Amino acid sequence: MERFVIPHQHEITKQDRRSLNSHGSLILWFTGLPSSGKSTIANELEKKLIAMRARTYILDGDNVRMGLCKDLGFSEEDRGENIRRIGEVSKLFVDSGAIVLSAFVSPYIVDRDKVRELVEEGEFVEVFVDAPLAVCEERDVKGLYKKAREGIIKGFTGIDDPYEAPLNAEITIDTSKVSLEGSVDIILDYLNEKGVLPK
Ligand code: ADX
Repeated sequence: MERFVIPHQHEITKQDRRSLNSHGSLILWFTGLPSSGKSTIANELEKKLIAMRARTYILDGDNVRMGLCKDLGFSEEDRGENIRRIGEVSKLFVDSGAIVLSAFVSPYIVDRDKVRELVEEGEFVEVFVDAPLAVCEERDVKGLYKKAREGIIKGFTGIDDPYEAPLNAEITIDTSKVSLEGSVDIILDYLNEKGVLPK
């Protein structure tokens, strides 16, 4: 199919929106096993950021897999497409001037690296939420590890589907050792150091 898609030159830029907000915009990409604590940290961090008057948005399974990606399952291909769409949406939010908190298992390095390449240098911050499988399974927030062990769910990450840990994450947090508050502080320190927080 021949496509004639010629972008309109928008006059208002990402920088304009950032100046209006008085803070930077980027993607905090939380990756890790189910029940590792990705959404919990993202939610607690978002509360702190909002209290600082930062504009934020959380993308996670709750709002994405119910709508934008409701046609996708958990095969390698579908997970790749899930992460691709989320990456594109995250990029738009960065352009809007928001601090985006994306919390997805995102088990494949190649899929996460494609999102990294989608945005500018420094706009993709990989947060590896790293807890031992035994701890995640013990937490079993949604009871899905149990179902996977019973064979009711097939291809469950960590049980009978792979999880590829990041090799060069900007931030790694072992939630079996660090408290929720400590985890949030680690990320806030990083954002502060990079000059992203509200002035
Ligand atoms: S991803 O692999 O495509 O990044 P995503 O983060 O959107 O996954 O969804 C993972 C959530 O879906 C898990 O936290 C869990 O609640 C649920 N889930 C259902 N089936 C699976 C599965 N086979 N593997 C992993 N998570 C699953």
